[in-house]
Amino acid sequence: MKKIALSGIKPAGELHIGNYQGMIKPALDLAAEYQALYFIADYHALTTVRDRKALNQLVYDVAASLLALGLDTEKIIFFRQADVPEIFELTWILSCFTSKGLLNRAHAYKAAVDANRDAGKRPDADINAGLYNYPVLMAADILLYGSHFVPVGQDQRQHVEIARDIADTLNHNYGRIFVLPEPLIQDAVMTIPGIDGRKMSKNYSNTIPIFADSQAMRKRVMRILTDSKRPEESKNPDACNVFGIYRYFAAPDAVEAKRNLYLQGGLAYSEIKHELYELLDKKYAGSREVYLTLVEDQPRLDAILSRGAEKARVIGMRVMEKLRRKIGIK
Ligand code: TRP
Repeated sequence: MKKIALSGIKPAGELHIGNYQGMIKPALDLAAEYQALYFIADYHALTTVRDRKALNQLVYDVAASLLALGLDTEKIIFFRQADVPEIFELTWILSCFTSKGLLNRAHAYKAAVDANRDAGKRPDADINAGLYNYPVLMAADILLYGSHFVPVGQDQRQHVEIARDIADTLNHNYGRIFVLPEPLIQDAVMTIPGIDGRKMSKNYSNTIPIFADSQAMRKRVMRILTDSKRPEESKNPDACNVFGIYRYFAAPDAVEAKRNLYLQGGLAYSEIKHELYELLDKKYAGSREVYLTLVEDQPRLDAILSRGAEKARVIGMRVMEKLRRKIGIK
């Protein structure tokens, strides 16, 4: 039997090329080697999104986006977290084996507390228990299906480690129940620069969105921040934001040729920007069309996602039966 790789994506709006290179593509590629599960973490989004329509739309957006980018539902079990009710039973059981101190140390919670302190507020002001328990829900996502590997960005490493800790505690108490999951860290996430040179992230408004129309994509690329060196001057490709993106999308020999041109002189930023725009536009034009059709067809997306959830539940229910038996609940 193939080992299981699972990843989740919190529906958070427009996907950008950093998401694609850093986590979507690597996760889709895992289907070659593992039984892959990929789900939309709508209940995680509920910790921050409080608008019914917005949450709904975010879920369909991300579903349509991933399918348009080539997620093959014959190979990958693709579903919505909320379609798997076993998650909540498991979340409760896990929380009974999770030390509160462990959650106190979780990065997202600590960052929220620090932000409150800095703003002169009470440490827990405006922090809901959902944010606090977020790592336990995520541990349930991971452990329910016996996941061996969890491909995530560096920012999610701690969450996978927490899941592993909790699994280890239960295994210790009752004998082997859970697979101990391992994070597969996607380093590319860290190196794709945004158009201002910081890490590409929605939080910095420095992204190049995948499904924006061609003109909007072009504008974004043209706005990539560079120094003001003239074309004939020699430049350092590794310090250039345009090159930093280009190298992920152009063919290896083209990347090499550009690198030399940077070093020798003779390259205008406007030219490589234009080339980058054309590369991106060509790469995503097909997906953009599929996306636009799919995102309008919610019944079809629902059907796809619930078929995926049925498959996921077959795996999850086996784990739950074993767990209940071992802990003496049923
Ligand atoms: N917390 C993850 C993020 O914000 C999303 C997520 C939820 C996830 N459950 C998961 C990722 C389980 C991997 C495995 O990106």
